[in-house]
Amino acid sequence: MVGATTGASVGHTKVFREYAVSADHPEASKAGAEVLAAGGNAADAAAATMLALGVVNPASSGLGGGGFALYYSAKDDELTFLDFRERAPAAATPDMFAGAEGEAPSGPSAAPSQVGGLAAGVPGEPAGIATLVERFGSMSLSDVIAPALRLAEEGLVVSSALASMGASFAAQLDQDPVMSKWNLMPGAVLRRPSLAHVLRLFANAGVEALYNGPLGREMAAVVQQHGGIMTFQDLRDYRVVTRRPLDAELFGYRWVTAPPPSAGGFTMLQSLTILERVSGATPVYGAPLLHTMAESWKGPFIDRQRYFGDPAQIIQPLDRMMSPSRIEKRAALAAGEKANPTEAYDLPIVWTSPPRTSSDNAGTSHLCVVDREGNVAAVTTTVNLPFGARFTAAGIVMNDEMDDFARGVGEPNAFGLIGGASNLPGPRKRPVSTMSPTIVFKDGKPVLCVGASGGSRIVTATQQVAMNVLFFGMDAGRAVDAPRIHHQGFPNKLRVETKAPLDEALQEALRERGHAIASIRNIANVQAIQIVTKPERRLHAASDPRKGGSPAGR
Ligand code: GLY
Repeated sequence: MVGATTGASVGHTKVFREYAVSADHPEASKAGAEVLAAGGNAADAAAATMLALGVVNPASSGLGGGGFALYYSAKDDELTFLDFRERAPAAATPDMFAGAEGEAPSGPSAAPSQVGGLAAGVPGEPAGIATLVERFGSMSLSDVIAPALRLAEEGLVVSSALASMGASFAAQLDQDPVMSKWNLMPGAVLRRPSLAHVLRLFANAGVEALYNGPLGREMAAVVQQHGGIMTFQDLRDYRVVTRRPLDAELFGYRWVTAPPPSAGGFTMLQSLTILERVSGATPVYGAPLLHTMAESWKGPFIDRQRYFGDPAQIIQPLDRMMSPSRIEKRAALAAGEKANPTEAYDLPIVWTSPPRTSSDNAGTSHLCVVDREGNVAAVTTTVNLPFGARFTAAGIVMNDEMDDFARGVGEPNAFGLIGGASNLPGPRKRPVSTMSPTIVFKDGKPVLCVGASGGSRIVTATQQVAMNVLFFGMDAGRAVDAPRIHHQGFPNKLRVETKAPLDEALQEALRERGHAIASIRNIANVQAIQIVTKPERRLHAASDPRKGGSPAGR
């Protein structure tokens, strides 16, 4: 028994035989399933789901944002990681947010890295969707776009998650000519005619229509009207990057997850490596394990601050960060009875490789797809904070991913992550992320697709849900429901959820070990599909009740 659960929302977990889609909105899962029913594969369905998410939950993701996709192709047993994260405009400078006002005196932040034109990175989502479909899909882009277009034209019922985010940011949304017209009351019907126009262009003329035509010009012009520095050329220059995912054998499973510019995959693999050492091959759920887990995250979050940046511009010493001697020191600390100050885990590396150049309820959304052939797509997509930079350009909600850069060295971002020099803004740089789309394999076959939204909490939540399924025998639904903890080094506080409170006796046992416990509403929102093959194929699909999603499939 892993403490109290969130209380299941109707239909947030389902079992399928053929294919499954888990998104954090029921209509988005259905859009993916519709494409699978029509003969599409996991890549087509992931693209359709992403497009639908941008329509039904503009607070979390959309064409004005970006993300990461981890794709497993079953027939050739190959994994590909697509980085379509937003990147800084060419005119970005390390000090562009230095000294800027932080939080507004009341209400939502007005920080220029979070709201307005300067906050917007060059969107990668349209290019990511097109690349996913072109490289791995079996349908045309227009077929994949069709369900989202229909939703944008016909409208959708506003979910309570969207309504609550809308209420929190109403004053800022009211300033925008498109968003001010939205009725975001729960149960109201939201139509998106301007986005429908963009989707029609995307379907008819392909991705070039968004980056390289009148729409791109309009997008750049509107960003500039909002004080931004993004140019039409920045849009034309945008490229998706294919990366090698991180990969490690731990606890008898192969874990494949996000590489830099995400720090999430690294954090998860280092934590699991420490846990394997301290807790043995078959960990037991309880206060000692939760204590070790909290301790295991402190070191990687310090490393993130010191060493992570855009891999195109910084050579990250990943091997040295994961060196046996470092792991041994951190494991010895984590094995102690008492919580250590975060600084105890600070093990600086003498960095001989110079940089290449001189020089959650958050936004974000995670989805999983498993198709009939066994292909798997794990995609995390984002506009960063709810409703991104809180303005639309050419009908598209623009991201505020520039807040994932360091505003200044030592300054925290919206998630309290402390900025490091490697992650200052710069021309065409991609900011460090926590997004951690993950696929876990056993004996060469995928057994779990998992990932989350929720800023810095993405990785700790993803890891715990994976552990619940793989180590503690829970099905995906129970694994997602179960209470979670979070620690990110600074502040030195162990977070528990008010929505799914950790068992009081466990909290007390953690306090006795020296942890300062603090509450937070929820720790990220996780979507997962567990792939069971024995005695017969079953896909246990779960959408996190914390955000009200529901899976779809057959
Ligand atoms: N914007 C959230 C992340 O990339 O981690």
